[in-house]
Amino acid sequence: MNIAVVGTGYVGLVTGTCLAETGNNVTCVDIDLEKVEKLNQGIIPIYEPGLDTLFYRNVAQKRLRFTSSLEEGLKGASIIFLALPTPPGEDGSADLSYVLEAAEDIGKLLKGYTIIIDKSTVPVGTADKVQQRISQFATADFDVVSNPEFLREGVAVDDFMKPDRIVIGTSSETVKKILSELYAPYVRQGNPVIFMDVRSAELTKYAANSFLATKISFMNEIAHMCERLGANVDMVRLGIGADDRIGKRFLFPGIGYGGSCFPKDVKALARSAVECDYEFRILEAVMEVNAFQREYFVSKLLRFYHNGLQGKRIAIWGLAFKPETDDIREAPAIYVIRELLAQGASLAVYDPEAMGNIKALFGDKISYAADQYEAVRQADALAILTEWPVFRAPDFGVLKNSLKESVIFDGRNLYDPEKMAGLGFYYNSVGRALTDGRKN
Ligand code: UDX
Repeated sequence: MNIAVVGTGYVGLVTGTCLAETGNNVTCVDIDLEKVEKLNQGIIPIYEPGLDTLFYRNVAQKRLRFTSSLEEGLKGASIIFLALPTPPGEDGSADLSYVLEAAEDIGKLLKGYTIIIDKSTVPVGTADKVQQRISQFATADFDVVSNPEFLREGVAVDDFMKPDRIVIGTSSETVKKILSELYAPYVRQGNPVIFMDVRSAELTKYAANSFLATKISFMNEIAHMCERLGANVDMVRLGIGADDRIGKRFLFPGIGYGGSCFPKDVKALARSAVECDYEFRILEAVMEVNAFQREYFVSKLLRFYHNGLQGKRIAIWGLAFKPETDDIREAPAIYVIRELLAQGASLAVYDPEAMGNIKALFGDKISYAADQYEAVRQADALAILTEWPVFRAPDFGVLKNSLKESVIFDGRNLYDPEKMAGLGFYYNSVGRALTDGRKN
């Protein structure tokens, strides 16, 4: 099929590339000339495992193209994906101006029957607005469909190629037939394509992300209870996760969720509740707990250093909001760095992918280490903020020798507290016993 993808951000680029991989002709359109030029030179603007292989293969096969001209991009396309940003406005509601402006431009260019698909996470009712906007300008027939993405950064290619489910909001039988064909190669394992009305599809995306965020905040609260009651959150997690109704995943406590989706979507759903005269009480609490997690992490350091952080050097491992990405949007690390700097600490940071992005924010206010061991050299303590695999089994001997004191604050529960005590560390993690091996 001939497909246009409007917007080459994270979702658009992964969507376009993965659609080309099954033989479709895909043209990706972006108004950012520089970005398009780079993509045409083979420079991929994001780090996403596995994307490069598919990208280069499909560009070489001429199934994947990039242009800054919407007219050129739409030529011959029977399906148009909208993958445009919907940033939160001041009040948390999603800003639809990019989507609606694109709708207008598309309307003016439509030639024959076209399916227009909303991939962006948009509030309920957006497809109706897109439909209205296009019809003000279009003469050709078209359908607007909601088809939310459920891509996780770091495994987005896999999520697209082998989705758990595909949700499609439409009432048109023609659309159902065409999109069933389009997605057939991706649901070979028998995973369902779930058709529903447009509004339910739009709400499904918010409900899914908000539910996952709720699971995380709930576990973060259980972790606080564990710390106070002398229980171990790892055990509680295993104990409840074994119940199918609860499920094993997304039960890891830490320093709170970040990224481009959860914070934005939880806020937008809470906001949309207010707009329809409802108060989504659980979501208000989910956001509150999430903000508290990072504050609490910093307060642990402040409690440890009673005389303040002035003159203390803290090493930080992990800056991205999660492993396998260079993305620092809403990353807890940003808050932690700001707070520790404000308290007078000096910081040496390391992340396998996100150093450039953090440098763009903090410049020379902090030091950037070439590797994880350089970061800890002569540091008073180590703070772990992202669970990159490379941090999971470090050389503890080198760590002990490099740190001035054997002190670790772990916001991601990477190590076994008992083992850490045995190795002579003060080890402060989330929802588990605090151990101080230095005293052994
Ligand atoms: C999420 C959704 O998973 C995806 O379906 C949606 O389309 C986009 O948003 P993503 O933001 O890439 O994907 O990351 P995800 O792996 O879901 O993690 C989100 C945040 O939750 C991270 O900050 C992560 O550290 C945190 N998290 C996740 C926890 O704190 N505990 C957990 O148990 C799981």
